[in-house]
Amino acid sequence: MVRRAKRIIAVGGGKGGVGKSLVASNLAVAFAKAGQRTVLIDADLGAANQHTLFGFDRVHLSLQALFEKEVDDLEELMLDVGVPNLSLVAGCGAIPGAANIAHAQKQKLMRRIESIDADVVLIDVGAGIAYNVVDLYTLADLRVVVLLPQLTSFQNAYAFLKAAVYRVIREAAKKIDRQDLVDTMVPSSETDRVVDVLAQLERLDPHVATMARRRVEAFGAYIIGNQIISPKDRGTVVAVSRMFHDFLSVDAPILGNLRYNRLIADSINARRPVLLSHPHDDCSKALIRVAESLLATDIEGLRARREDADRSASVAVHTASDDLVMDEIQALLSA
Ligand SMILES: Nc1ncnc2c1ncn2[C@@H]1O[C@H](COP(=O)(O)OP(=O)(O)OP(=O)(O)O)[C@@H](O)[C@H]1O
Ligand SMILES: [Mg+2]
Repeated sequence: MVRRAKRIIAVGGGKGGVGKSLVASNLAVAFAKAGQRTVLIDADLGAANQHTLFGFDRVHLSLQALFEKEVDDLEELMLDVGVPNLSLVAGCGAIPGAANIAHAQKQKLMRRIESIDADVVLIDVGAGIAYNVVDLYTLADLRVVVLLPQLTSFQNAYAFLKAAVYRVIREAAKKIDRQDLVDTMVPSSETDRVVDVLAQLERLDPHVATMARRRVEAFGAYIIGNQIISPKDRGTVVAVSRMFHDFLSVDAPILGNLRYNRLIADSINARRPVLLSHPHDDCSKALIRVAESLLATDIEGLRARREDADRSASVAVHTASDDLVMDEIQALLSA
C-alpha cells in the first residue's frame, strides 16, 4: 500500500492573477499554525512565486532538481520558511521551457507529492488549463477554486473546472481501459452539461458511465471568492457555484469570501504572508476560517467514495464478462 499524505489540497482557478498564490501561501501558514505538518508545493511551473512570497531572493533547490534527476525525493527539496511545521518546495522560475515538463516528469512529481509524509500537502497549481495543471489539481483530495467577481474570472474558472471534471471522467474510464470512449466522444461546446456527457457515455457503456458519475459526485470542489466588495459580488459568487452545479454536476460550496485589502497587496512586496505580519486583521481571520473548513472536511469519506466509484469497475468487468459468458451459452444452445 502506497503511503499517502493525509490531506492533499490543490489551489487553482484557471485565470492568472486572481489570488491563487497568496491564498495558498496564507492557507499553508494557517495549517501550520493549527499544528498540521504542512508542505506547500509551488507547482506553478515556469512562473513560480511562492519562494518570493516567503521572502527568498532566489532558491538553489527547486522542482527543477527533481526533473533533472539531481534529487529523487521531494524531502530533499523542502525549504525552511521560518514557520514551525511548514516547508516549501519551490517551483522553477525563469527557466525557459520549465512549464513544459514531459509526461514522465509529471507522473514522477505526482507520485512524489502523493507519498509525502505530512498532514497537509498544499499545491499551488498555477494558471491555465494545460494537462500538467489539471492533473496536479485532480491529484488532490480537495480542489479549491479561487475566483474574482469578474466575468473573465468566471469564464476561466468554469473552463478550468470543466477540464478537471472531464479529466476525472476520463480517469474513471481508464480504470477499465475504456478511455477511448471518452476520447472519441464528440467535442462538447461551451454549453454542454456534464449530465449530457454522462448520458452519452451511458449509451456507450453504462458501467463506465456509473463509475464516472460517482467520481464526479465526489469531486470535492470548494470556492473562495476573492476581492469581494459588495453584496452583489457575493451574489455573483453564489451564482457561479450554482452554475458549477447545474452545468458541471459538481457541488462547489463557497468556503469564504475575501475582501480587497491593502495589507494583502502590501504583503506581496513585503514578501511575508499577511497571516504572519497581521495575524489579527479581518483578512487573516477570514483565511483562518477557510483553513479550518478545509481541515474539517472528511477526507476519509471522500476517498472512500472515490474508491467505491472505482470498485464499481470490478463489478463492471465482472458483469461484462458475465455477459460474454451468457452470449457464449446462448450461442452453444442455439447451435
Ligand atoms: N484580496 C486582495 N487584496 C489585495 N490585493 C489582492 C487581493 N487578491 C489579490 N490581490 C493582488 O493580486 C495579485 C495577484 O495575486 P496572486 O499572485 O496570488 O495571483 P495568482 O492567481 O497566483 O496569479 P498567477 O496565476 O499569475 O500565479 C497580488 O499580487 C495582489 O497584489
Ligand atoms: Mg500564482
